[in-house]
Amino acid sequence: MTRSIAFVTGTSSGLGHGLAHRLLQQGWRVHGCSRRDCDLPGLHHHRCDLTDYAALPHNLDALLGELPRLDLVVLNAGILGRIHPLVDTPLEEAKEVMETNLWANKAVMDWLHHWGRPVGQVVMISSGAAILGNKGWGSYALSKAALNMLAKLYAHEFPHTHVTALAPGIIDTAMMDHLCEEADAERFPALRRLQAARGTDAMPGPEEAATKVLAVLPLLKQRPSGSFVDIREILDPEGYARLYGKTPEHT
Ligand SMILES: NC(=O)c1ccc[n+]([C@@H]2O[C@H](COP(=O)([O-])OP(=O)(O)OC[C@H]3O[C@@H](n4cnc5c(N)ncnc54)[C@H](OP(=O)(O)O)[C@@H]3O)[C@@H](O)[C@H]2O)c1
Repeated sequence: MTRSIAFVTGTSSGLGHGLAHRLLQQGWRVHGCSRRDCDLPGLHHHRCDLTDYAALPHNLDALLGELPRLDLVVLNAGILGRIHPLVDTPLEEAKEVMETNLWANKAVMDWLHHWGRPVGQVVMISSGAAILGNKGWGSYALSKAALNMLAKLYAHEFPHTHVTALAPGIIDTAMMDHLCEEADAERFPALRRLQAARGTDAMPGPEEAATKVLAVLPLLKQRPSGSFVDIREILDPEGYARLYGKTPEHT
């Protein structure tokens, strides 16, 4: 039987690691990349910095060039930046977040377009931050809002590929260390929801979150290509309504 083939970015830790692991367990052939090594047996991994745009085509040629097609691409690699007032955030710092969370994904999409082989489904990992606009989430929220539009725009240019920007919900990964241990919840009240959720069922680990993301993939295809979808809308409608409702912490 022909094995399905996936490419996942950011496989050294967190959600990307969980996705690669789960896909391998389900019998997929999985290709991944990140700056650090990845310990998953069976993963075709290539160390690379996605923001090194000069080297990116060579890195993707080496990792994916010989494949006949990709059934699934998950553009997951991302950075948080600092939770900090936007007015005090140096432009260089905001640009760095944008490089990883937006422009690197454009570069990968451009390579896929040039490659010209079939790509079944692309999922760009976005965030509720793209919509919520909470105080302190400046660079990250801007980058994810722009990523949502990237998905919409590329849906036009990849007419045979289904594209979604997906908010995966909160996940207990390295990204949460800064949000729950370092950032100041007095100054940035939206942190309280995350800090209260850590260690509870409301914040799954990467493996469980990956299982949920993979479970909703067929449902994403029922939405128009280019859509932004928050996984909580599908799996936890009440939590979704609370999150996007006008509660004091989100004003
Ligand atoms: N955790 C959450 O609650 C949450 C919520 C909503 C959305 N998300 C999104 O989920 C995605 C995964 O985040 P995570 O929580 O799993 O965080 P994480 O554990 O920090 O994982 C981020 C991954 O991205 C890779 N990466 C970062 N910059 C890269 C670069 N320049 N080139 C190649 N790889 C790079 C990292 O690998 P290297 O450092 O080895 O390069 C790592 O594998 C992100 O897009 C994030 O915005 C997370």
